[in-house]
Amino acid sequence: MITGATDGIGAAVARALFSRGDHVVALGTNAAKGEALVGAADGAPGTVEFVRADLSLVSTTRQVVERILDAHPRIDGLVLCARYFRTTRRETAEGFEDNFALFYLSRLLLGYGLRPALERAERPVIVNVAGPGHDTPIPWDDLQLTRSYDGVTAMFRSGRLVDLHGVAFAQRHGDGPVRYVLFHPGTTSTGFVGEFDPATARFVEQQKASAKPATAVVPPILGLLDDPPAAPLTAFTADQEIDVRSALFSPRDADRLATLTDDLLARVGD
Ligand SMILES: NC(=O)c1ccc[n+]([C@@H]2O[C@H](COP(=O)([O-])OP(=O)(O)OC[C@H]3O[C@@H](n4cnc5c(N)ncnc54)[C@H](OP(=O)(O)O)[C@@H]3O)[C@@H](O)[C@H]2O)c1
Repeated sequence: MITGATDGIGAAVARALFSRGDHVVALGTNAAKGEALVGAADGAPGTVEFVRADLSLVSTTRQVVERILDAHPRIDGLVLCARYFRTTRRETAEGFEDNFALFYLSRLLLGYGLRPALERAERPVIVNVAGPGHDTPIPWDDLQLTRSYDGVTAMFRSGRLVDLHGVAFAQRHGDGPVRYVLFHPGTTSTGFVGEFDPATARFVEQQKASAKPATAVVPPILGLLDDPPAAPLTAFTADQEIDVRSALFSPRDADRLATLTDDLLARVGD
């Protein structure tokens, strides 16, 4: 199962998987891109099923979890790629800062929610494609950046939060079979979906011009799916392992964040 599977790295991984015979569940919001992905699998040895869902909504993500659990009692791998850049701060209908909701909350809900199906697989793994190892400070008293927001900070902040979520997941479920991997792809030419101010849009286009293609990131991700690391939690920048015992992956911070997040999520009714 892949979130953000209609574009960029997620789409490249989806194509590689169905091209070799796997069954892929692909999540995204854009129906045209979803149909194009399904069309690309025509005649392939594997299959792809497009699930259209706005994962920035907690209620929708919870429904997706239920639907996937019903349809797919066993999941071998979960690849988390969905993200949406916003120059201007926006809140979802549920009152969460949009990037916080999509990049952090949906990944947490999908990881915990789909765990029963993952645990039925032989060597299950969650590959959280983000930016592990970045040292952006965590704004503990303003996690959703109400006082001071910019799109780049929001993205890096969410990267830190998913790193700590990985730590919490491994603390809670490290005795089980699911391995949690935080994966930094490095600068990659992808869809970079979002709403950008002109200066940021120009910067993104410059980055894309010299960046590697999304297909270059596929081999290390397939490697992690096919042969998950032995440790409950690992982090990589491309092929380079990052030490998850550093202060950036503090178990105490992970606990603190988990408690704050549980409180926030408890306020969202189904
Ligand atoms: N590209 C890089 O240079 C780079 C560098 C470091 C880390 N990363 C990380 O790698 C991951 C993948 O990045 P990418 O560059 O491949 O992304 P991308 O090309 O911008 O694609 C983002 C994906 O997220 C989906 N998405 C956006 N909003 C959504 C929503 N509300 N609900 C569900 N899906 C939604 C999009 O699908 P729709 O268009 O169908 O909505 C699209 O498939 C991200 O986590 C990113 O932080 C990328």
